[in-house]
Amino acid sequence: MSQPSPAALSLEVRPDGIGVLTFDQPGSRANTLGQAVQGEFEAILTQLNGRKDLKGLILRSGKPGMFIAGADLKEVGGAKSDPEQTRRLVKRGLDLIAAIEALPYPTVAAIDGACMGGGLELAMGFDFRIASTNPKTELGLPEVKIGLYPGWGGTQRLSRLIGPALAAELICAGEAVKPDRARALGLIFDAVPVEKLLEESIRLLQWAAQAEAVWREARKKKQQPVGLSEDQLSFMAAVTRAQVMEKTKGQYPAPLAALTAIVKGCNLPLEAGLKVETEGFVPLVGSPTCLNLIAVFFMSQRLQKDPGVVDASIQPRPVQRVSVLGAGIMGAGIAGAHVRKGIPVTLLDSDAKALEKGVAGLAKNMQGRVEIGRMAPADLVAALARLSTTATLNALTDRDVVIEAVIENEATKVQVYQELQKTLPVDAILASNTSTISITRMAKAVAKPENFAGMHFFNPVEKMQLVEVIRGEKTSDVTTATLVALAKRIGKTPIVVRDCPGFLVNRILFPYMNEALTMLEEGAEPRAIDKAATAFGMPMGPITLHDVVGIDTALYAGKVIHAAFPDRATAPRIVAELVQAGRLGQKSGAGFYSYAKGPRGADDPALAPILEKCRTGRRAFTPEEITDRLFLPMVTEASRVLAEGIVREPADVDMGLILGIGFPPFQGGLLRWADWQGMGKVLEKLKRYESLGVRFQPTDRMQELARAGKGFYAD
Ligand SMILES: NC(=O)c1ccc[n+]([C@@H]2O[C@H](COP(=O)([O-])OP(=O)(O)OC[C@H]3O[C@@H](n4cnc5c(N)ncnc54)[C@H](O)[C@@H]3O)[C@@H](O)[C@H]2O)c1
Repeated sequence: MSQPSPAALSLEVRPDGIGVLTFDQPGSRANTLGQAVQGEFEAILTQLNGRKDLKGLILRSGKPGMFIAGADLKEVGGAKSDPEQTRRLVKRGLDLIAAIEALPYPTVAAIDGACMGGGLELAMGFDFRIASTNPKTELGLPEVKIGLYPGWGGTQRLSRLIGPALAAELICAGEAVKPDRARALGLIFDAVPVEKLLEESIRLLQWAAQAEAVWREARKKKQQPVGLSEDQLSFMAAVTRAQVMEKTKGQYPAPLAALTAIVKGCNLPLEAGLKVETEGFVPLVGSPTCLNLIAVFFMSQRLQKDPGVVDASIQPRPVQRVSVLGAGIMGAGIAGAHVRKGIPVTLLDSDAKALEKGVAGLAKNMQGRVEIGRMAPADLVAALARLSTTATLNALTDRDVVIEAVIENEATKVQVYQELQKTLPVDAILASNTSTISITRMAKAVAKPENFAGMHFFNPVEKMQLVEVIRGEKTSDVTTATLVALAKRIGKTPIVVRDCPGFLVNRILFPYMNEALTMLEEGAEPRAIDKAATAFGMPMGPITLHDVVGIDTALYAGKVIHAAFPDRATAPRIVAELVQAGRLGQKSGAGFYSYAKGPRGADDPALAPILEKCRTGRRAFTPEEITDRLFLPMVTEASRVLAEGIVREPADVDMGLILGIGFPPFQGGLLRWADWQGMGKVLEKLKRYESLGVRFQPTDRMQELARAGKGFYAD
């Protein structure tokens, strides 16, 4: 016989008649509102509704610093598009919250820690909310981040509690608020130190028990229309809509649907408002965007937990002191990321001026964080105190890890390693931030190649979350696991990649960049190419990206990839021509576009004669053809990357591209995008372009998958 699972909810009735309901989901770090827990809530609410002896009810969490994380995403993520089933699930949640609102005595949600999504919707069913001032406490409805909106009354109750304009702002952005802001908004009654949370909740209930009108009024407010005039509502809708469109380009349906639910529902009685909410919510569940965003969420969770090596017995080495060599754009950023997270760094540069500039840049960056309230002034001081500088390698006798970010020149790098070995502790790990040089080859210059790896950060380091940890042929598991753990400590998402030209991200980005140039030479217009890419969801088109990266850098990187994969890298002339014309991109004021009037590139008539020289054709391209040509060669290259074991999972490819180049998360990642189309369809499309060369030839694996009716992902 199976044992009943231990209960998540327990009720204690105090001598003063106040019930304290504690939510503590067994075997889990978070409280979530899955089906089983909802069943428990229903049972206990039926019981509570009949308890005429109670004076009030408090809901609290048994987990310090964690109130309720939200719905159970595993249940939502698995939900196929089944409107009837969704309606049933939604109704179950709505009924549960309505049952809280029908209790014959006042109620308080005592919130310590994250109160998110369904958790906040549940808490809004209580008459009052008191939150702790614990730094971990935050309240929010982040559903839009997974392609949904709050469907358990969140759009309606929040509108009635804080007004529809602010509700729309919070829900459409999916951002959480801290207790202070929540109090100012009227979302919570008060914010108190965590040790006083229960005491203050009890006091509030004792007071409410004496003043029935107060809690009845709080309840009534949530049932009534908000009573905005048509003019006020349409103004609010227009402003919010414009903000949402600016941010999402209309590619994410959920925020706009949330806005509609708020606008249409807030002037109705609650029950009618909830019907409006449900109507808009049902089509979102199980939609491709929703499934993709949930998949991305789970992929990023997997990476957070991934130790980077298969052997579970491998332990990362402790890292107490780090050195960064080279105080340029990358070195300064890397050093800054470490000191901000409490790791002492010695920053080295052979050029005193560069060192000074690097430190000033790093400090300015942190100052910027202080100014926008993302860093406390005291933390800035502490971070800078962890930074020391030197011009000599001899100073680095006590470093556990050295990250090299000197200029991209193999001879210079190798010379630095050879010098460094004379002073560095024997077991220290040396990691190169090179973008293009082989880790396996450079490892030959060091005495202990097992302690050598790549640690490829992206520019700008303070914004870009991805770090590729690159294993050379001889890199050990311990070195890999140590660098993975270090990258996580500084708040980055590491992906382990085997050494190959371009590593993971640049290798798969290259076909996209290069195909754009090839199409340009065949007659496509730069704007048409960029437009098709951004319509697909890329943050910028490949032509603009060339200008941002620098045409000279693109030329150099192109040569590296071309030398490595001559069978599938075409050699467009245009880049070399632009370099020769001194048009190096944004940094020189002009590249494909002109930047004379600002960072948004303007069409430049001076490009035409240069382009003309390189043109091999003169035909127009449809957006569909451009999209196919940009993304299909990326898919075939990614398939090769998988076949060669450069990364371990399709999810590594997808997350690498999402985090490294901003591949649109709503598409689920490159390989998931291919899977959505179906491998058969992908092959059919590739066939259309096969005359263009190997880059449009499906790999054996793709053909196998197509025959089996499968995709890159097993699910
Ligand atoms: N810039 C990017 O977008 C980017 C992105 C990822 C990786 N990278 C890689 O990071 C590394 C650094 O790139 P960057 O853009 O920061 O370059 P940078 O030119 O801004 O900085 C390089 C620094 O190295 C210093 N240096 C040169 N020789 C040295 C030596 N022998 N000893 C000590 N310091 C020395 C220089 O004085 C300079 O300050 C390169 O390997 C590059 O490929 C760059």
